[in-house]
Amino acid sequence: MKQNSAIQITHISKIYKTAYIETVALDNVTFSIDKSEFVAIMGPSGSGKSTLMHILGALDTPTSGSYILDGQKVENLSDDELAEIRNKKIGFVFQAFNLLPRITVLQNVVLPMQYAGIPKPERLERAEKYLKMVGLTHRMHHTSNQISGGQQQRVAIARALVLNPAILLADEPTGNIATAQAEEIMAIFQELNDSGHTVIMITHEPDIAAHSKRVIHLRDGKIITDEKNRNRKLVKRTNIID
Ligand SMILES: Nc1ncnc2c1ncn2[C@@H]1O[C@H](COP(=O)(O)OP(=O)(O)O)[C@@H](O)[C@H]1O
Ligand SMILES: [Mg+2]
Repeated sequence: MKQNSAIQITHISKIYKTAYIETVALDNVTFSIDKSEFVAIMGPSGSGKSTLMHILGALDTPTSGSYILDGQKVENLSDDELAEIRNKKIGFVFQAFNLLPRITVLQNVVLPMQYAGIPKPERLERAEKYLKMVGLTHRMHHTSNQISGGQQQRVAIARALVLNPAILLADEPTGNIATAQAEEIMAIFQELNDSGHTVIMITHEPDIAAHSKRVIHLRDGKIITDEKNRNRKLVKRTNIID
């Protein structure tokens, strides 16, 4: 096992079986991602991106193959064990943000810490720290349905980070937001990665993948290319005014 790996998957396959057909969604995929990498996983619709995200995120298990996440074997865990490793090691960012709409921004960010049993003063301190990081201190007491899509995604990023996950895993993080706000999200990912976070994002948009340091392309459940991004697009945080 490599010391510096955040993720090592070896000969992973995923076959969905229904009554009449079998779909090979991932076909013998092998790669590893080191700590502090910033990787984009790309591919057309149906290429297996979401399936891979579910396996990497310990939301599902592969049909065969092995998966080591931050030094821990994942492929044979029970649902309860998967839930535990998921909560400890992964911060999720979803295309649809997945915030609770009727509670405040602050409460959304506090919630995972409440479930994890972190004492109240520390919960608030950490929530405020990460809301500051994503530039949303001034919207802390709004409910999440009172802010824009880009802002909601920034709240989701703060929420994903409060338990210090080993990796930040984002599935089409900019799929539902306007271009200028998407750039802001990428600037935040870049900043997080600069400060040592491992970032893995799934996207079908070349403009978004351009921000990563490495791009893995899937097609028909297989890796077709896995390359360093030599023309990486670097962005600065703008002064967030909204
Ligand atoms: N729960 C499922 N049951 C059956 N087939 C599935 C299921 N999820 C995905 N698939 C199939 O697996 C393949 C890969 O899907 P997916 O991982 O969602 O690709 P992507 O996210 O790249 O669009 C597709 O052919 C899809 O139809
Ligand atoms: Mg998908």
